[in-house]
Amino acid sequence: MPDLAVTLNRLHLANPVLVASGTFGYAREMAGFVPLARLGGIIPKTITPLPRIGNPPPRTVETASGLLNSIGLDNDGLDAFIEKHLDYLLGLGTAVIANIAGHDRDEFLRMAERLGRCQGLAGLELNISCPNVSGGVDFGVDPEMTASVVRGVREVCGLPLVAKLTPNVTDITAIAQAAAQAGADAVTIANTFQGMSIDWRQRRPILGNVVGGLSGPAIKPIVLRMVWQVARKVPVPIIAVGGIDGIDDVLEYLVAGASAVQIGTANFYNPSLAGMLIDQLDQALASAGCQNVREIVGTLQIPQR
Ligand code: SIN
Repeated sequence: MPDLAVTLNRLHLANPVLVASGTFGYAREMAGFVPLARLGGIIPKTITPLPRIGNPPPRTVETASGLLNSIGLDNDGLDAFIEKHLDYLLGLGTAVIANIAGHDRDEFLRMAERLGRCQGLAGLELNISCPNVSGGVDFGVDPEMTASVVRGVREVCGLPLVAKLTPNVTDITAIAQAAAQAGADAVTIANTFQGMSIDWRQRRPILGNVVGGLSGPAIKPIVLRMVWQVARKVPVPIIAVGGIDGIDDVLEYLVAGASAVQIGTANFYNPSLAGMLIDQLDQALASAGCQNVREIVGTLQIPQR
């Protein structure tokens, strides 16, 4: 059987299949669907310093092969995460990567410092890319701001760091480069694409927030292209997330250059998918003649013309 373990600089995972922040709650509600201990990692909903109720409803709308959300970082806040959810998560027998978002650099640093003191977390994912709150997207659209947050967090927190990047930029490789140079152990590519949905008969937007973030199979080809571009240019491990719906999607991302993947929107319509993919990955790697995940990462061959 191929070895599924992956190492992304300081981040060690038993296998490359994680579940994405915002699509898996705090994991309790998914326990009946997925053997949680088998997951490569769990990334719970983004934590902010204080509880947030998020944006006005409607906050989700289905689109062609996709989902638009404008949740707005609805979450219980940092105190409740530590007091109510962390022990449960750490008892699941898999890597738990906390995901945080701050309105400014100081908020990121204060949260990172506190979570860094909690024993047992496998890493920290920095959400510098939420399209649904003002301030959230700003860090991830600017290489200097990205570097400043990542560097600052590295100084105050010893956990392996993952920067979650926004695709809503002209050149994602420049942002990935900045994150890597500032000390990110890995980058997550990518958060959702800004979009909107309209009820033309009412002449109204469907989402209460007017605009939201698009995810699901509709975005996969675009994220795949971004993963490939970053992998060619930036020496940083990539965690790919965007529209994974089956084992072929996982393998496509690995071949394009990702070292691991996150399952996101599919958790809403096929909550058992992540577990099924881990079962299927052994066989897929074996059929490609690979003895471990590393052997397939970045093996895309471009035909010479
Ligand atoms: C949200 O809560 O608005 C979605 C999370 C994100 O896009 O980062």
